[in-house]
Amino acid sequence: MLSIIVPTYNEKENIPQLVKRIFKVLDENKIEGELVIVDDNSPDGTAKVAEDLKSSYNIQVIVRKNERGLSSAAIKGMESAKGDVLCVMDADLSHPPEVLPKMLKHIQNEEAELVIGSRHVPGGGIENWTMKRKIVSKCASLIARPVTKVKDPMSGFFMLKREVIEGVELKPKGYKIGLEIIVKGNYEHLVEEPYVFKNRAYGESKLGAKVVKNYLSHALSLYFHKDSSFYQFLKFCAVGGLGIFVDLGVFSLVYYSFFLNAYGQITGTLYSQTISFGAAVTFNYALNKVWTFQDKERRKSKVTKQYFMFVAVALGAWLIRTLIIDTMLTYQDAWSSYKGPLVNLFVSLLSIERFVLLIAIIIVMLVNFFGSKYLVFKREKRIVKPSEN
Ligand code: GDD
Ligand code: MN
Repeated sequence: MLSIIVPTYNEKENIPQLVKRIFKVLDENKIEGELVIVDDNSPDGTAKVAEDLKSSYNIQVIVRKNERGLSSAAIKGMESAKGDVLCVMDADLSHPPEVLPKMLKHIQNEEAELVIGSRHVPGGGIENWTMKRKIVSKCASLIARPVTKVKDPMSGFFMLKREVIEGVELKPKGYKIGLEIIVKGNYEHLVEEPYVFKNRAYGESKLGAKVVKNYLSHALSLYFHKDSSFYQFLKFCAVGGLGIFVDLGVFSLVYYSFFLNAYGQITGTLYSQTISFGAAVTFNYALNKVWTFQDKERRKSKVTKQYFMFVAVALGAWLIRTLIIDTMLTYQDAWSSYKGPLVNLFVSLLSIERFVLLIAIIIVMLVNFFGSKYLVFKREKRIVKPSEN
């Protein structure tokens, strides 16, 4: 069953239309559904209007007397919902109910477990938005960029399998319960289904300055959620930094204490640095597994394969690093004639070799990170393209 959760605050004029359109769409598409209205005791009597419709439609009306807030209302509605598929949408008809069957299709096809109604994918859009609202929406999306690649992370219109949020601790703070689920939810595939956002006909938006401030602190806290790419990258760099000490330490141990230097400087260093490289890679692998990517896979065969994959990525990255350095040095005359003031400053501060090394290190760090994230510890939430039908 599909449960459609609609938080309301002073929406009495919109409710009859909304209910009619939702159940018409459900009927026409033979979808079994219920509507869960979560009203925060609106002074305009929204709850009463909703209650009166209960006799004709499958509706639950929840009235909260001591709480206010869109996100907490949505969570409350999801908890009380009976369906195995949940949808959250606004009451003001900004989110057209006619899109619901398309969203549900993606879940029924097992194409995705989370579907975001999106204004920013082809076919989606915004009807008559003021410049100010467009800019606010764009900025808000940009701020969410480090935690998700979803094109419309601000969407208040989304559908999910109940499992996606089971056992997940959702913070009802702020307006953006959708973003919270995008970041924290347990799903493998996400689809964005286009829709055209319509302006409300009645009543007014509750989006004010306080909501914006709330959003900023919410987004910032999500930056440090364990699944955010940004936070994982910081951890990955920290692990790499510690790995340097392991490398140096093991090198010193075998070269000086276990007397591999007895083989002479060149050969002794070759042996020692190979051993310390192995130690550092193993250390990095282990720490990235349990801490950076919090990968719980413990089967021995899986771990062995994963470990060799990690080593392969590290060696591949080393090869790329060597190629970059070599190419940049070989063709330095070609690119140095184009370099701007910033590059000139760096080169004069560092020397051209160190500058080239620095570029290579930065690129290879990224290669290493994304290789580890998507090849070695792949458990990523994938955004899939909706299928044509
Ligand atoms: N229960 C409850 N409590 N519901 C609330 C509250 C509250 O405190 N505040 C707002 N709502 C309900 C409204 O009645 C409406 O159904 C829905 O939440 C959205 O509120 P609006 O005031 O219409 O929000 P908006 O149009 O400014 O923002 C919408 O569009 C944004 C995209 O730009 C929302 O969908 C946002 O989530 C979305 O980001
Ligand atoms: Mn609205």
